[in-house]
Amino acid sequence: MFDDSIISFPSNPTGLYDPLRYMIGIGGKRIRPNLCLLAYSLYGGEPCQGALEAAQALEIFHSFTLIHDDIMDHSPLRRGVPTVWKKWSEDTAILSGDVMLIEAYKHIVKVPQECRAAVVDLFSSTAGQVCEGQQYDMEFESLDSVSMSQYENMIALKTAVLIACAAKTGALVAGAPQKECEALYRYGYDLGMAFQIADDYLDAYGDEKVFGKPIGGDVANGKKSWLTLRAMEKSPDPEAFIELFKSRDFAAVKRQYDALGVGVDALAEIVRFSDSAIAALDGLHADTQPLLAFAEKLVGRVK
Ligand code: IPE
Ligand code: IPE
Ligand code: MG
Ligand code: MG
Ligand code: MG
Repeated sequence: MFDDSIISFPSNPTGLYDPLRYMIGIGGKRIRPNLCLLAYSLYGGEPCQGALEAAQALEIFHSFTLIHDDIMDHSPLRRGVPTVWKKWSEDTAILSGDVMLIEAYKHIVKVPQECRAAVVDLFSSTAGQVCEGQQYDMEFESLDSVSMSQYENMIALKTAVLIACAAKTGALVAGAPQKECEALYRYGYDLGMAFQIADDYLDAYGDEKVFGKPIGGDVANGKKSWLTLRAMEKSPDPEAFIELFKSRDFAAVKRQYDALGVGVDALAEIVRFSDSAIAALDGLHADTQPLLAFAEKLVGRVK
């Protein structure tokens, strides 16, 4: 639905903007712009220019967060190809990331005047929350014990709020009633929770060629994922498990995940959040079928 050929960046200096073109050019699932356009279409039909501006802003912002995230996570691979810091340098990834955030803002301020204040406010508060989530994500690396509720708060901030923002923004641009905008935010939020748990699951159980990111990266980096926390909850000897986790030996940690059955638990948790997302649609006056199909596709994702 979202056609990324509408995205363009300034030409010069090429050293600054080429990484932006690269990041968009290497693909990605376009979940956020598509969800924005989907929510818009429930109330507004074919996307207007304002909806397309919002959709572009969401994808450009998301791709910016990935450029910086890959430095922070020391990740060499993204969307099946080298990450920006790996292909150019960390300095380039920092500055090109910065200007990509600014490019996102150039689009979000172009939404129709009637909804601009609400949309830009939501976009800014969401962007701040993503940084807060990324900070917790880093801080959790050096903590021995992180609770499931601390983890859920962290992924809500780093991932769920942007997906929620995408859904609500589409509705705001279409001029949907406030209650419906909030219901769509709730839907996107719970779907975003499911989405990040699926990301954690695929980090251990995915196929690198399909997933496009290195398998075992979370363990190798000492990242506490949903699988780690569930393993700590289930392990008869959580201290021994955390010591093993600290060794960063992915094969050994994965054997524990398998023995404890945490992969299966993750899949059940993804379905639980997705069901909750769908429940948030109760009472919407629009045709929710496309949103049900969207949720179903995310639940079964392999990349
Ligand atoms: C990756 O997002 C970062 C997370 C929030 C898990 P996506 O899985 O949407 O990445 P792309 O855009 O498809 O590459
Ligand atoms: C990413 O979480 C969240 C953001 C980029 C804000 P991850 O670090 O798990 O995402 P991937 O796995 O690198 O895509
Ligand atoms: Mg990260
Ligand atoms: Mg990462
Ligand atoms: Mg991940």
